[in-house]
Amino acid sequence: MDSFSFRNGELFAENVPVRDIAARAGTPCFVYSRATLEDHYDRLVHAFRAIDPLVCYSIKSCPNLGVLRVLAERGAGMDAVSGGELFRAKSAGVPLSKCVYAGVGKTDAEIRYAIENGLGAAGGLGLFNCESEEEFENIARIARGLNATVRVALRINPDVDPKTHRYTSTGKKETKFGVDLERARRFFATYGRDPHARLEGLHLHIGSPIYTVDPYREAMTKTAALVDELARDGFEIHSIDLGGGFGADYESAQSPPLKDYADAIVPLAKPLYDRGVRFILEPGRTIVANAGILVLSVLYTKTSGDKRFVICDAGMNALLRPSHYGSFHFMWPVAPGVDMTPARRTLDPKLPDTMAQDVVGPLCETGDFLALDRVLPASIGRGDLLAVFTAGAYGMSMASRYNSSPLPAEVLVSGTSAEIVRRRETFDTLVEHELKPIALELPAHEAPKLEAAR
Ligand SMILES: Cc1ncc(COP(=O)(O)O)c(C=O)c1O
Repeated sequence: MDSFSFRNGELFAENVPVRDIAARAGTPCFVYSRATLEDHYDRLVHAFRAIDPLVCYSIKSCPNLGVLRVLAERGAGMDAVSGGELFRAKSAGVPLSKCVYAGVGKTDAEIRYAIENGLGAAGGLGLFNCESEEEFENIARIARGLNATVRVALRINPDVDPKTHRYTSTGKKETKFGVDLERARRFFATYGRDPHARLEGLHLHIGSPIYTVDPYREAMTKTAALVDELARDGFEIHSIDLGGGFGADYESAQSPPLKDYADAIVPLAKPLYDRGVRFILEPGRTIVANAGILVLSVLYTKTSGDKRFVICDAGMNALLRPSHYGSFHFMWPVAPGVDMTPARRTLDPKLPDTMAQDVVGPLCETGDFLALDRVLPASIGRGDLLAVFTAGAYGMSMASRYNSSPLPAEVLVSGTSAEIVRRRETFDTLVEHELKPIALELPAHEAPKLEAAR
């Protein structure tokens, strides 16, 4: 699952006591494990080896350059959804020719930046994952203007229910992403011969996290059928990007092993692979979720009515998932002692001297919580460190500065060493873009007269 484990009653990240990291880096801080990142990447590549996919790590899940570099060294390409993420890929040393670029709202400037930096160029592995007719026309127009030719995949909605949170279900007909299967054929008929935007791939991402393999089987079956239909229409598909969405272990052994996903997908994909179709995967969570924890300090505890509150130095500003999606994250003190070490990460680890408590942050929102009625040691108190597990994905990437909270530090552990891969923000960082107002040079105009109210 990951390299965070209790030894002699205290939590280690690989071979480093988490207590020591907190003492040096302060809290709140995210701690990532290199060994876990590498292990998850390798397992994925191994599970899907029969179709030799290009694994494009989904930057949005955890965009820290330290994390990107670990995966890039392993051979990963990157999945980006904004100009900022493309810039991060480049900054981590990943050429944009090895990146895929999705997103329903690509701006002209972002498209130009991508093309100028080699995204989708002939001979490369990357593509624009195009989400609509208007966007395609825009990509083609900009490519023409730059005298470039770019490779494009059409994002399709196979209309599959991934059985996940409605906010992260992305492959149904009525979602804002991609086009439905009927429109896909018309799309190729209209744009399939464009000389500057070469429509040669299909892209899908049906949702996240998906804990059963059936939605993938259904999506792959529909995609393979579309490939055949398009071939009959005279359009050859060179690449299929299956997106991400594989699960993570928020509780012990919650997610199927990657081999199970591969066993469902590979038999359907292999005939296409044998015909020369290149496969791409865009995993985020399954690689990085278990590779990260969030370490917090308990500031205070208090009781109100029948409720006991554990008030920490960060809440939804550092980890939005519990309040935004109602997500479960296992959490436990960093140094609980041998007798209070949980055997499993689960809602109630069945240990003595525990009680239900709300774990909340310092923000002025009732929605600022990390767990409600969570079974935790009754002894938990001011000054304790608390570890929130499986926080590597959509943790820091969704963190905010709400209530003017500086963003947490990020630390990468490798064996017995650790380095700060993002410094904690300071009060100065909070105001640096606001210190000097800049006058806008507006065109001269006369303010229209107010109309009398009728
Ligand atoms: C297009 C696309 N690809 C990949 C991913 C990564 O998903 P996950 O982190 O669940 O693997 C996402 C997540 O939203 C996505 O939108």
